[in-house]
Amino acid sequence: MKLKSIYICQNCGYNSPRWAGKCPECNSWNSFEEEVVDSGKLSNTRGRNEGVGNSRKSKSKTDLLLRNAEITNLKEIDADVFPRTDTKISELDRVLGGGLVKGSVLLIGGDPGIGKSTLMLQIAGNIKNKKFLYVSGEESAQQIKMRADRLNSNIDNFLVLNEVNIEIIATVVENENPDILIVDSIQTIYDPLLESAAGTVSQLRDCTSSLIKIAKSKGIIVFVVGHITKEGMIAGPKVLEHMVDVVLQFEGERTHSYRILRGIKNRFGSTNEIGIFEMSDKGLKEVLNPSEIFLSQRNYGASGCVISCSIEGTRPILIEVQGLVTSSNFSVPQRTSTGFDYKRLNLLIAVLEKKLGLFLNKSDIFINIAGGVKIDEPAIDLAIAMSIYSSFKDIPVDSESVVLGEIGLSGEIRTISSIEKRIYEAEKLGFKKIIIPKGNLKNIDNKSFKIKILGADSVKSVIDIIF
Ligand SMILES: Nc1ncnc2c1ncn2[C@@H]1O[C@H](COP(=O)(O)OP(=O)(O)OP(=O)(O)O)[C@@H](O)[C@H]1O
Ligand SMILES: [Mg+2]
Repeated sequence: MKLKSIYICQNCGYNSPRWAGKCPECNSWNSFEEEVVDSGKLSNTRGRNEGVGNSRKSKSKTDLLLRNAEITNLKEIDADVFPRTDTKISELDRVLGGGLVKGSVLLIGGDPGIGKSTLMLQIAGNIKNKKFLYVSGEESAQQIKMRADRLNSNIDNFLVLNEVNIEIIATVVENENPDILIVDSIQTIYDPLLESAAGTVSQLRDCTSSLIKIAKSKGIIVFVVGHITKEGMIAGPKVLEHMVDVVLQFEGERTHSYRILRGIKNRFGSTNEIGIFEMSDKGLKEVLNPSEIFLSQRNYGASGCVISCSIEGTRPILIEVQGLVTSSNFSVPQRTSTGFDYKRLNLLIAVLEKKLGLFLNKSDIFINIAGGVKIDEPAIDLAIAMSIYSSFKDIPVDSESVVLGEIGLSGEIRTISSIEKRIYEAEKLGFKKIIIPKGNLKNIDNKSFKIKILGADSVKSVIDIIF
């Protein structure tokens, strides 16, 4: 074994023989860490790639390679050999595309303390007749037991292994043969054959690929828990995303009790679904009617508050946009956005200045999506713009109205997707009026709705309708 020192970007895995301040691949700063690798392995890989298609390859070698190659005709494969296991947490099952697939590897990422271990224990409490092996590199069995008791988890066949050595873990899995393996967290696990410390990219990759091998060869469902730090450094499981079958991300503001589980990658289902949970001392509770929850603390008649509807996955969710425009004490006014893209906010402010003649460059502007949700679709542009207008003029928006539409650079209102779903949701929650892009009007059946539907084609025309 020939050891060699190289520098690996801890964010994306790019490697270089020299240290660099900025990664040329993912542009992150200060992400290179020195790691010791077996240079023999590196050159072997290179040699193998060059050898492909080499006409001088001997016949016996070709025969040997072919004997090792596993070729299967798809026609002969029965897709039913991968049955799904329901987690009985409907918010999670929807994100997964309908239960856990046998032999799949799932990566659960999220900020520290967001509730990853809690979710794992709740899954274990819900799935009966399956054997769980929980590998914990962070918490003792007592701590896990305390959490299970707090969550009232009805766990029966649940083994806890306090171990961080992947070789021992693999041997225990071989011996115990669990149905579901949970590794909490991957950053603590290490392979003694590698020189680098636990949590580095080489270790993360190596240990994850061992876990993938275990999952695929034995048909075990493997949950891999990973931390993400604010900078996406060291702990960042970004490099693992392409290796595993499913990547779920837990999001949420620490100060809010709502948690959003987002599918980032899914080899067995759609990735634009989200699951909404509420964190309490009894664990994560599913939020089945998110619109009602997000609107529950509305302040009727306050200026700057506008209701809009966002589509998260396949579900429409009503949200409250809150805007506050105040005169600024600084030469460069502040713009703050929580839950909405900051750059897009600046764009909308520019449109308001140009098209409505609002004089906003002496005003601080604060935008907040109530409830700690993050919305990244342009359909709420119009609500953001109206919230700024409402707060600037200090006149409230009609509280019975919902506002929808994407705003173009010339102040035009552009059409949005899934319009009927959004109108239906607004009607269901008792709103009387909905403003939608004019271009969407022709796609809807007006008679099937009781709510008053109004089309708008420019920012200017909306003002006459909702104030
Ligand atoms: N009584 C309680 N005791 C402990 N935690 C509680 C309690 N009530 C609510 N919680 C929530 O549980 C969270 C901890 O959840 P959990 O340990 O599952 O998170 P995690 O993502 O696994 O964290 P870590 O990154 O530390 O492993 C706390 O941040 C808190 O929000
Ligand atoms: Mg944890």
